Amino acid sequence: MKALTYHATKDVRLETVPDPVIEQDEDIVLRVTATAICGSDLHIYRGKIPDMDAGDILGHEFMGIVEETGPGVTQVKQGERVVVPFTISCGNCYFCNHALFAACETTNPGRGAIMNRKNVRAGAGLFGYSHLYGGYAGGQAEYVRVPRANSGPLVIPPGLADEQVLFLSDILPTGYQAAVNGEVGPGSTVAIFGAGPVGLMAAASARLLGAERIFMVDHHAYRLRFAAETYGVEPINFDEIEDPAAQIIERTDFRGVDCSIDAVGFEAKGSTLETALTTLKLEGSSGKAIRQAIAATRRGGTVSVPGVYAGFIHGFLFGDAFEKGLVFKGGQTHTQRHMPRLLEHILAGELQPEAIISHHLPLDQIVRGYEIFAQKQEDCRKVVLTPSGPSAAAGADPLPLAPGA
Ligand SMILES: NC(=O)c1ccc[n+]([C@@H]2O[C@H](COP(=O)([O-])OP(=O)(O)OC[C@H]3O[C@@H](n4cnc5c(N)ncnc54)[C@H](O)[C@@H]3O)[C@@H](O)[C@H]2O)c1
Ligand SMILES: [Zn+2]
Ligand SMILES: [Zn+2]
Repeated sequence: MKALTYHATKDVRLETVPDPVIEQDEDIVLRVTATAICGSDLHIYRGKIPDMDAGDILGHEFMGIVEETGPGVTQVKQGERVVVPFTISCGNCYFCNHALFAACETTNPGRGAIMNRKNVRAGAGLFGYSHLYGGYAGGQAEYVRVPRANSGPLVIPPGLADEQVLFLSDILPTGYQAAVNGEVGPGSTVAIFGAGPVGLMAAASARLLGAERIFMVDHHAYRLRFAAETYGVEPINFDEIEDPAAQIIERTDFRGVDCSIDAVGFEAKGSTLETALTTLKLEGSSGKAIRQAIAATRRGGTVSVPGVYAGFIHGFLFGDAFEKGLVFKGGQTHTQRHMPRLLEHILAGELQPEAIISHHLPLDQIVRGYEIFAQKQEDCRKVVLTPSGPSAAAGADPLPLAPGA
């Protein structure tokens, strides 16, 4: 089959690799009908995620048709159309029983990403996300092995197109969890840093939950324009306004917002000093976005962090957070927890995540897709890829093909 493989920084290739097979009782093999490129894939693409091997298959946002099931699979059947969460979770460990699926302690044989970890177990394995997270092959491919299929894949009812539900795999639950973690509710004021797909899904979710005012900070005018038109955000372009947090405070009666959402993470555009420190690997992360988020939040408010961080952060003003009495919440998304509810919202017409798609490409053009998304060319917001072959249209009948046939 064809799959997108990692080789080195900015060197990803569409290659022919062996078809996946059932390895464990609870595995399924999925024929991928739609997949996407995530901002998290860009961290790998830019060489910022350790423990990648040449030939690793990328991709953690995908859906498709169940092609084959292992003998222990009870929750999905051959021929069903499913969306697969990016977090691989067992469904019955201590953390899964608390609906903390990203913390599943049985699916990641890798070391995980905690630096000062003592002997704590690693969190959940992730598809296509380095050997730190288990080294699982990803879904930017024609076929993918999905382990733990009793605790992940969500069956999609007929009548919905792939694009309407594909983002249930990651960015929609991620944006939603960010808003819920930020305790966004009717009347809330929210500041979202980052107008990428995660920031946009956070804006859609904040609106759904009743937010009254949403500020959105980025420097790509086309992304801010889309967010203003689609979700009614108040855009702030940090190329034009040097200190967005100061602006947000002025516009909220000198208090700040109830909740800030950092949908940027550790590659935030920041000071030259921080860029140098992270390049020299003296610091793991740029602190620009999280510092702005802390500054923009009112006393007693919440800073919600879906953006990915790693290791040390430069200039993390914990004293300011203490003085303001801020609450912090973040982490990888507990995807499985939110998927059923979000599917209901899509069915009810209350969420249209597909609105953010700017590029539909065949899988054959995925390398170009990475370039377009990474370099923000052609006003790119989100790239969705369709492996060639049988139609991925709503309710399409699955073809009885063996993987790779
Ligand atoms: N927690 C999770 O489970 C989870 C899931 C998916 C994605 N993520 C993470 O969310 C983050 C965003 O993902 P995405 O797909 O939207 O990526 P993206 O790269 O498309 O978007 C990031 C946006 O942030 C903007 N930005 C950069 N520096 C900024 C700054 N200082 N202030 C404000 N905006 C700034 C960029 O211009 C860009 O538009 C990434 O770190 C990604 O890894 C986390
Ligand atoms: Zn992702
Ligand atoms: Zn578990």
